[in-house]
Amino acid sequence: MADIDSPAGHGDEVGAAAEARWTLVVAIVTLFLVGMMGYMSLHWAAMPPVRTETVDPGTLHIAGEFIETNLGTFAEADGSATVRVLANQYSFTPQCIVVPADMPVLFRGTAADVVHGFSISASNVNLMLVPGFVTKLRTRFERTGEYLMPCHEFCGNGHAAMWAHVKVIDRESFMRQSRDAAGKGVSCVQ
Ligand code: CUA
Repeated sequence: MADIDSPAGHGDEVGAAAEARWTLVVAIVTLFLVGMMGYMSLHWAAMPPVRTETVDPGTLHIAGEFIETNLGTFAEADGSATVRVLANQYSFTPQCIVVPADMPVLFRGTAADVVHGFSISASNVNLMLVPGFVTKLRTRFERTGEYLMPCHEFCGNGHAAMWAHVKVIDRESFMRQSRDAAGKGVSCVQ
């Protein structure tokens, strides 16, 4: 910048040096953020959002956590409940899920064939079920009632008919049904 009063003063040099330093700082921060965006969008987007726990989709029905007798809702010793759900073209198992109101509920789910998903009306539950991965969500249902649980990932010709029902029952009834189930998962009596 031309300054008529001070002939190429010392102050100008200091100012220019400071400006250059700050330009460098801003450039580094900008490059870091852009780099992070690139990493997140390319690396992360190439994987399902639920990839912390894996499961072999080929042996789901014969071994491990998602065998038939492990599906349904279980009361845990710590006062919470765990729901295990399996998605297949074109149904969920169990078809009707029972959960207690006013208790921490952990959903654990996976898919046997293709990507499925579900949401539960009037709740914050909205999950994607990916073959090979265990999807988890902790939630709590405040009120008892009956809700619909549609599959919301297009999974083939029968997608639109893929539904389950969710019954939220009071805590005492749930604990009673859990004792009656004697180690099996609780699900709706239909
Ligand atoms: Cu399962 Cu759509």
